[in-house]
Amino acid sequence: MSNGDASSIRFCYIDIEGVSHQVTATAGDTLMSVAKNHLIRGIDGDCGGSCACGTCHVVLTQALQQRLPLHDEAEADLLAFIGYSPAQGHRLGCQITVTPDLEGSVITVGTID
Ligand code: FES
Repeated sequence: MSNGDASSIRFCYIDIEGVSHQVTATAGDTLMSVAKNHLIRGIDGDCGGSCACGTCHVVLTQALQQRLPLHDEAEADLLAFIGYSPAQGHRLGCQITVTPDLEGSVITVGTID
C-alpha cells in the first residue's frame, strides 16, 4: 500500500503547550518552515532561518539526533548563547533540512529562557 507522494514526509510536532500536531512536509523544507506553515506554537523563526535568533529551538530524541547531519559551529554557538547544547538533543529548526529520515519522528518545540 502506498503512503502517498514519496516526497511527502510525515512527522509530529509537540508544541510549546504540549499539544501534538501531525504535519506533512516536503523534502528540502526546514523544520522551522514546516512549523511556521503549520502554525506550530513556539516556533517563531524571527530571523528567517539565518541562524541568528534561536526562536526555532527544537528538541530531538537521541535516536533522531543520530540519524540527522551534525550541527555546525554557528548553530552550536547560537544554542550555547540561548543556554542549550546539541549534545542534549537541542537544535535549531532552521538548520535542519527535512529528509525521509524524519518520517514518523516526534519533534518537541524548545523554550527560550
Ligand atoms: S529562525 Fe532564527 S535561528 Fe532559526
